[in-house]
Amino acid sequence: MTEPTGGLRLELLSLRHRRALEVFERVNREFFARHIGDRGDDFFTRFDVHLAERVAENTSGRSLLCVVTDASGEIVARVNLLDIDQPEQTELGYRVAERAQGRGIATWGVTCALDLAVGRGVRRVHAKVATTNPASRRVLEHCGFALVGPTDPPAGSPKSFLGCRRDL
Ligand SMILES: CC(C)(COP(=O)(O)OP(=O)(O)OC[C@H]1O[C@@H](n2cnc3c(N)ncnc32)[C@H](O)[C@@H]1OP(=O)(O)O)[C@@H](O)C(=O)NCCC(=O)NCCS
Repeated sequence: MTEPTGGLRLELLSLRHRRALEVFERVNREFFARHIGDRGDDFFTRFDVHLAERVAENTSGRSLLCVVTDASGEIVARVNLLDIDQPEQTELGYRVAERAQGRGIATWGVTCALDLAVGRGVRRVHAKVATTNPASRRVLEHCGFALVGPTDPPAGSPKSFLGCRRDL
């Protein structure tokens, strides 16, 4: 797929992303809180523990946790595929920096991550989208997901959600 803007890279999350990841999460905290819920103070006070746990998931092959970096090495998006060790139960999630919205980055990042997932043997990917999030629904459509129907919201969310699925 064509890269939306020059210099973007999809990389597996690793410890060398520590500084850039914390900047991404802090700078966009309020934006993400408004759209998908706040991570809570504990996420930031235990940031190193969180990162080490996520990197360990990549290392063990349980998850495929990715970041999209720009030409300067800053992180502009995260794309996460959880439970890739269960090839039909893999779950997709993604978030894009407020300053980088509307440039095709989510669509590009998810497409690249799904390509990686195919290489790891993933056969089916599930996603949840809030009925109040048309941009995310559009991303899923662009990436070949089919609507399955109403589904349970993620823990703690008061919103209504739709389930989507893509067979790889
Ligand atoms: C949803 C999100 C990931 C989209 O990221 P993005 O990089 O801007 O997405 P893209 O540019 O690849 O695609 C967005 C699409 O939605 C469309 N869109 C944006 N706002 C829209 C709206 N209010 N109504 C309908 N469509 C909308 C865009 O036009 C684009 O579609 P197009 O390519 O057909 O024109 C981003 O807004 C985000 O991080 N939101 C907060 C976290 C979140 O909601 N994550 C998803 C959880 S399921």
